[in-house]
Amino acid sequence: MISLSPAKKCLFTPCLSTLARPCHITRSSLLTTGYFLSSYHDFVSRFSQCHKSSPYHSISRARSQINSLPTRRYFSSSPCSLAEKKLFTPGPLGVTLNVKEAMLRDVGSRDSEFIECVKFIRHKLLDIAGVSDEDFCCIPVQGSGTFAVDAAFQTVLPREGARALVIENGSYGKRMVKICESAGIEVHTQSFREDQAVEPEVVEDALQGPVTYDLVAVVHSETSSGVINPVTEVGRIVKENNPDSLFLVDAISSFGAVSLDIEKSNIDIIISSANKCLQGVPGFAFVIARNSVIAQCKGNSRSLALDLYDQVVQLDKTSQFRFTPPTHSMLAFKRALEEFEAEGRTEGRSKRYAANRAVLCEGMTKLGFQELLDPSVAGYIITSYRYPKDPNFNFPDFYNRLNEKDFVIYPGKVLDADCFRIGSIGDLHPADMAALLVAVEEVCHDMGIKLPVQY
Ligand SMILES: Cc1ncc(COP(=O)(O)O)c(C=O)c1O
Repeated sequence: MISLSPAKKCLFTPCLSTLARPCHITRSSLLTTGYFLSSYHDFVSRFSQCHKSSPYHSISRARSQINSLPTRRYFSSSPCSLAEKKLFTPGPLGVTLNVKEAMLRDVGSRDSEFIECVKFIRHKLLDIAGVSDEDFCCIPVQGSGTFAVDAAFQTVLPREGARALVIENGSYGKRMVKICESAGIEVHTQSFREDQAVEPEVVEDALQGPVTYDLVAVVHSETSSGVINPVTEVGRIVKENNPDSLFLVDAISSFGAVSLDIEKSNIDIIISSANKCLQGVPGFAFVIARNSVIAQCKGNSRSLALDLYDQVVQLDKTSQFRFTPPTHSMLAFKRALEEFEAEGRTEGRSKRYAANRAVLCEGMTKLGFQELLDPSVAGYIITSYRYPKDPNFNFPDFYNRLNEKDFVIYPGKVLDADCFRIGSIGDLHPADMAALLVAVEEVCHDMGIKLPVQY
């Protein structure tokens, strides 16, 4: 039997209300638990009766009705599959049922509980980052990670005359270049091979030239390949050679799982998002920035929605968002942060993810698969594998067959090598990696791929 925490409030608000429904306990929220109420229609008709006769006691009645209904696991062979997939991806990532359950109710944006939730999250993220609120602020931004990166560039650089240097070795570095171009920011690029880490000595050469930069940016974990970049070294070089430059780090896929000393690395702005290593559901990202930087940014943003200055002024004043907040994602994220604490914070999480990758690497090596990266630059967030040279290997087919078994992997994202990627992050454990390996072996057999695979 599933246990539901029913919504305690009726929302008569412009955008969050589920009043069109007879109650807050909607079909989709029930299904999120991975279970299907086989008598859902029975429930609806019984609930309608109950609702007609006694609208004011409807929620508690509905709850007892739900609890009396039979449940069954809904299998993936059904045309509308609701089976739980295991996501071995860079995002969206799987999260625990406990986290998903925390969002199975509505809460108003001005509700004191939600306001406390926002305060808790902003404070806790600074704590996880290892910085104090005297020096830094945490600014949640509605949307995915890219929205927060875009918002950071738009906000911290003036509208006219700013020049940025993006150090890139993959798609997410290249995305920062695109963000600058679309915001009209003059951008220079220092590129490195996608299967190599960025080289601090080369960055130093670039910074010793005649051009000075208002901002230098780099990705910590370049999720397109799995490379971890030497951010602390790069930060030191930036501040030694261009002391007035801001140093921005996209730590979207590493924050909370790969330790990084923000002060020691001279970072002014660091960005991550809810549905990565902190294992919340998608819906918002966040920027942690120096107060002294943000204080100078009034009027910089070319975008109203992505203006971090306005966002933080409002949040500091009222703990409310300027526009519709991601209420459900934040409720889930608060629960995810509790799980993060219980697991032993960054240290605990990094141990599990590294253990996941160790199981994966050992098994994939036995099956003959070759990693794209040299172990000296590979992180434990995601692993890229080269396509084997077997005439029967075909990635879309390989992917679909694994997907049919409820294992979701990811295509490669490096430009000059045919690869696929397997993530180790999210609600994944060594046993899940072992189960994936069995599935990979079965799929290879079914596709007629000779094992160990050949190159
Ligand atoms: C390092 C990095 N930067 C940026 C992004 C973009 O984030 P999103 O897809 O949430 O917009 C990702 C997504 O995986 C990422 O891994």
